[in-house]
Amino acid sequence: MGPGRAGTSVALALRARGWRPVAVAGRTVAAASTRDVAAQLGAPAVDVADSGRDAEVVIVATPDAAIATTAAALAPSLRPGALVVHLSGASTLHELDGVLLARRDVEVGSLHPLQSLPSPDLGSRRLAGSWCAIDGPPQVERLALSLGMRPFRVDAADRVGYHAAACVASNHLVALLGQVERLAATTGVPFEAFLPLIRATVENVADLGPADALTGPVARGDHETIARHLDALPDDERDAYRALVREARRLAVVERIAELRERCDDARRANQTVGLVPTMGYFHEGHRSLMRAARANHDVVVTTIFVNPLQFGPGEDLAGYPRDLAADTAAAEAEGVDVLFVPSVPEMYPEPTVTTVHVSGLTEGLCGAARPTHFDGVTTVVAKLFSIVGPCTAYFGRKDFQQLVVVRRMAADLDLPVEVVGCPLVREPDGVAMSSRNAYLSPEERERATGISSALRAAAAAVEHGERDPRRVRAVVEAESARHGVELEYVEVRAADDLSRLDALDGDVVVAVAAEVGNARLIDNVTMQIADGGVSVDLGVITQESRS
Ligand code: PAJ
Repeated sequence: MGPGRAGTSVALALRARGWRPVAVAGRTVAAASTRDVAAQLGAPAVDVADSGRDAEVVIVATPDAAIATTAAALAPSLRPGALVVHLSGASTLHELDGVLLARRDVEVGSLHPLQSLPSPDLGSRRLAGSWCAIDGPPQVERLALSLGMRPFRVDAADRVGYHAAACVASNHLVALLGQVERLAATTGVPFEAFLPLIRATVENVADLGPADALTGPVARGDHETIARHLDALPDDERDAYRALVREARRLAVVERIAELRERCDDARRANQTVGLVPTMGYFHEGHRSLMRAARANHDVVVTTIFVNPLQFGPGEDLAGYPRDLAADTAAAEAEGVDVLFVPSVPEMYPEPTVTTVHVSGLTEGLCGAARPTHFDGVTTVVAKLFSIVGPCTAYFGRKDFQQLVVVRRMAADLDLPVEVVGCPLVREPDGVAMSSRNAYLSPEERERATGISSALRAAAAAVEHGERDPRRVRAVVEAESARHGVELEYVEVRAADDLSRLDALDGDVVVAVAAEVGNARLIDNVTMQIADGGVSVDLGVITQESRS
């Protein structure tokens, strides 16, 4: 039923495999298309209402919208035990409910050839060897196998999604090659010249999978060339090109250690460099600035999101730590990250965990005083990430100044093949250091939190005016914080390279603070280079982008 390309292809293929066509039904018996196909199959053209009479199998090959009514119309004529099968990709067996309601003694099924059938002749030959989505009783599977096809089943709920994938695989590919033909024509190159490239590309995808088959400027991260392409393209070709660059660039979300390791190894084997940005997620501009630094310097950018239980102490905010994987994925994609590693806790720490990495000395003061197990958690997870990713450059924010010094020292002491790079501290327009934990602040607390950065500014101003006594610098910070209603957990003035205590400010110095504001434990710092010639203050950078 439905003498179009799909129905006729299937009927011809069945005939070639020894089935006997007994009737052809179209919209009307007299329609030329119905008569032609009937003649081709050597079967009579019949009315829909009669079409089931002599058939063991009825193939319903109408457009999707007509399946239910057509099948209901033929139901009365069906022989007991007959099988009614539709060929639709997007429809489920429900389209044939009408048949089952009218006739309890027949079976229904569906068989969707995952193949393009541009003409009955070509189509009937292509079915053998093609895959097909089937549903219904075992006879449907036997029917598919008798056509030499490779049947598989798709859940009813996934049917439309499956069909969308099939349309992308076939129709969208044709649309894309139409763009190749147009661009070829505008540059005077024959379309045929692209065909070996197109065929080889499809072969590569078959051999390697889409992710590894990608070559060219997107795979190389060559954004400049892509920008030049966009400039050169005719206006009406640009949207499709841009959309597909986005699609090609689409980052891989990896959950397994072995897969991340393999991707990084593959990249280095291809002479590509790897940039790593470890995070706990809930991205803001601070995180994104690290991704941008990595993107600017490396072929492959790996960002990791892992809320590391080991670095949270008892009573800390592990359970409530903010998470938003969907927004993080979109942000990472927008920053051109190639691989987002999002392991589970058991993936990172199979029970029981008995090995930890401990850096002594550097971890004892500042944040280590109130959080005695925190840095062991940080160094253990970062050592694991460095070991999984392998030789790379890792980007850390100077916001977590002690963490940066500790991680750098760990990598050096353990001879890990990782260069640790510190990046500028990013602040909100009101001066507050960006932090995932700022999400905990009420508007009033948020206002109070500005006291922390203004206290650091006051300290820097004092040093610029000649103050060199660490105690007096700390007193300035304490007084200015208190004026804003912020009670500090600590304020320390230390040497920036090894966090050693100072009798007098000289060389590279950091003034670091921590304070609890509401439920948020916030940290901040300012670094200064103090030399005979003067003082150079680094308070980081201000962004206009808020997290929302
Ligand atoms: P997280 O707090 O998510 O921070 C990830 C990285 O972003 C760190 O290198 C941190 O210094 C940097 N960062 C955070 N806020 C920043 C800001 N305002 N400006 C610049 N950089 C900023 O730090 C951790 O996660 C974890 O301890 C981790 C290293 C991932 C180990 O679990």
